[in-house]
Amino acid sequence: MITYLDAATAPLRNTGQVRLYGEDGFAGMRKACALTARCLDALADIVKPGVATETIDRFVFEFGMDHGAMPATLNYRGYTKSSCTSINHVVCHGIPDAKPLREGDIVNIDVTYILDGWHGDSSRMYPVGQIKRAAERLLEVTHECLMRGVAAVRPGARTGAIGQAIQAYAESERCSVVRDFCGHGVGLLFHDAPNILHYGHANEGIEMRPGMIFTIEPMINLGRPHVKVLSDGWTAVTRDRSLSAQYEHTVGVTESGCEVFTLSPAGLDRPGLA
Ligand code: MF3
Ligand code: CO
Ligand code: CO
Repeated sequence: MITYLDAATAPLRNTGQVRLYGEDGFAGMRKACALTARCLDALADIVKPGVATETIDRFVFEFGMDHGAMPATLNYRGYTKSSCTSINHVVCHGIPDAKPLREGDIVNIDVTYILDGWHGDSSRMYPVGQIKRAAERLLEVTHECLMRGVAAVRPGARTGAIGQAIQAYAESERCSVVRDFCGHGVGLLFHDAPNILHYGHANEGIEMRPGMIFTIEPMINLGRPHVKVLSDGWTAVTRDRSLSAQYEHTVGVTESGCEVFTLSPAGLDRPGLA
């Protein structure tokens, strides 16, 4: 049995119960998420052929420091970078390194800043120079999956409505939904209850209530949905080496629907796409 509790008085750990945030929580999340979105905006000018993902990661660290924010991934469960950079067939949790990006790559950059205790979690895809039409189509489909998921958020509906909307669209476009990773409650904690599945049915999951804050972050593959994690313990790749893409927003459930906290102030939610 799922229970909901007031985030202001709840213990600061994942107890499996669903936190409901008030106006001060929403205000804190607006600030943290806006900072994450501004960093992702700035990265649109940095991502180019020849740039190493380590360089991108250093920018994410310094941008956070300059604005009083800490990257949440730094020293998180043994992870030692300020971002995840997932290239081509890497599904998620790619580790920034010295290898230069190449013309035609697609890269997801995932950033979470902690600002005044609030976690702003978002990721976008970046094309590196000119990309192939198939890659461009995958980015379009994946962004549309995210926004259809967002459109399913409203009080009274179940979280399964998000997954159903995403899966139906992805599969109608002959793409597949990764099952091994999901969205998550976020706010005062980085990864909290509930899990937000990117597949399933509208009658599954828990009821959404005003004050809930969580991420939606579908990973969509051009090929089959299956993934494996490399021996570094983090990098998740498609088993069939098909291209994979992901976009992520942090959203809050309101009385009338939802607020998307991580929208780009510059309208750069889909870098490289119209
Ligand atoms: N930001 C990722 C997410 O969307 C989590 C990264 S955890 C890390 O939930 F340790 F891999 F960085
Ligand atoms: Co997330
Ligand atoms: Co993320």
